[in-house]
Amino acid sequence: MSISARLNDVVDPRQLRVHRPPAPRDVPYVPTDDAVVPAILRLAQVTSQDVIYDLGCGDGRIVISAAKRLGARGLGVDIDPIRIQECQENARRAGVGDRVRFLQASLFDIDLRPATVLTLYLLPSLNIRLRPKIMSEMRPGSRVVSNHFDMADWQPDEVLQTHHRNLNRWVVPAWVAGEWHCTVNDPAGRRHVRLHLERRYQIVTGKAMVSERETMIGQGRIDGDRLTFRLVEWGRGGAIMRYAATIEGNQLRGHCWTEGRENERIEWGGARV
Ligand SMILES: C[S@@+](CC[C@H](N)C(=O)[O-])C[C@H]1O[C@@H](n2cnc3c(N)ncnc32)[C@H](O)[C@@H]1O
Repeated sequence: MSISARLNDVVDPRQLRVHRPPAPRDVPYVPTDDAVVPAILRLAQVTSQDVIYDLGCGDGRIVISAAKRLGARGLGVDIDPIRIQECQENARRAGVGDRVRFLQASLFDIDLRPATVLTLYLLPSLNIRLRPKIMSEMRPGSRVVSNHFDMADWQPDEVLQTHHRNLNRWVVPAWVAGEWHCTVNDPAGRRHVRLHLERRYQIVTGKAMVSERETMIGQGRIDGDRLTFRLVEWGRGGAIMRYAATIEGNQLRGHCWTEGRENERIEWGGARV
């Protein structure tokens, strides 16, 4: 008789405990204070339309609270199987088992594309490693809230101090860098604007050719999919123009106005070349 056959005679194989090395955690388990959870959800502006991901979700309190209080859907990911068991039990007790999912996995293996909100309570070094993934996978306008830790030179769009902690919020910027050919539908005379834009996080720089005269982009910003900047238009006697537009893929569309005359708005728009 083989060893395994003999073993089967004496022990139910389902009861065998296989030795596994401890999960390679990058951060220890420290749950977010219960009192801070609502502030995180408020700062992230979570609604029932959101899909919230918590990377390193601990006992699942953030995702479960978002589902229970705000009707959001969510995914919690933790490397530690004990935490995932707790999450599942907590979700069942909260009655949100149909709105949330929990996954035992490494946070670096998660596809972030479905998430509209991401919460983190990790370490600065992990936030920095996640940054390119956030930028490339999350949609423009999605929100990221980190409990306590920052993202180095990606400055937060908002910082909230509550219960002796800093909560940092970032809005994922649209991919605005590149060349754009645009038209300003000015009733006084349609003009063409060629933009060369560069972006570093939410700051936009570059130059514009307006009616064949070059001018620098001033005060450029991208907030989610909302682009704003200022141009001194030399061909129009140095008029200062404010531009605002919404970016959708390779198109942008919005309004511009002479500084100080915001109620005289002119339509403009264009496409990436
Ligand atoms: C500081 S706790 C935060 C828990 C929860 N997000 C909260 O705010 O209450 C960090 C969690 O990350 C988990 N963790 C550590 N390294 C991880 C990794 N590489 N992938 C996924 N989870 C990880 C830990 O097991 C721990 O539960």
